[in-house]
Amino acid sequence: MRLLRALLSTPTAVALVTFAVVGLAGAQSAMKIGSGDVIADRQRLMKLNAASLKDINEKLKAGNIEAIQVNAETLALNAEHIPSLFPKGTLSDKSHAKPEIWEKFDEFQKDAQNLGTWADKLRDTAKTKDAGATEAIVKDFGRSTCGVCHTTFRLPLE
Ligand code: HEC
Repeated sequence: MRLLRALLSTPTAVALVTFAVVGLAGAQSAMKIGSGDVIADRQRLMKLNAASLKDINEKLKAGNIEAIQVNAETLALNAEHIPSLFPKGTLSDKSHAKPEIWEKFDEFQKDAQNLGTWADKLRDTAKTKDAGATEAIVKDFGRSTCGVCHTTFRLPLE
């Protein structure tokens, strides 16, 4: 005990202990992703998807083509995060996720990637300011991306 106290009183030991404690705390906070409520997190992401798509349609109508890029980029990044927000079996009475997600997780992931591919294409096309080409993508966007996944993997929203 006396030895421990002696050791701890040296500046080096204090620095080492501090380093270890701060290091552990740092590792823990780096591993915690999201709010801790994964269902709330994914519903929040999905609401942002809907808001982004609405914004895209409004900008298209207003002829503000180049400004669509940022919304398409939001959708592209969201698409990357979708699979990690559906850990196996995370269901509740608040969730509209279907259990089929975990029976066909490959297909679910492919549907998320499909959203990413479309969003990349939309972003790159909007960048060219070509209104016709951008409209051609936007016209089918919701049905071909959100719709495809929701049909198989989401319960109807009441
Ligand atoms: C890979 C599958 C997938 C894709 C792609 C996808 N969604 Fe979803 N979405 C889901 C699932 C599953 C739920 C139900 C999540 C839950 O309640 O746990 C959901 C829920 C939602 C909700 C309800 C959120 C809430 O508050 O309960 C909205 C709105 C939504 N999605 C919009 C969109 C839009 C818009 C797109 C396309 C831009 C999109 N989603 C793309 C699977 C997907």
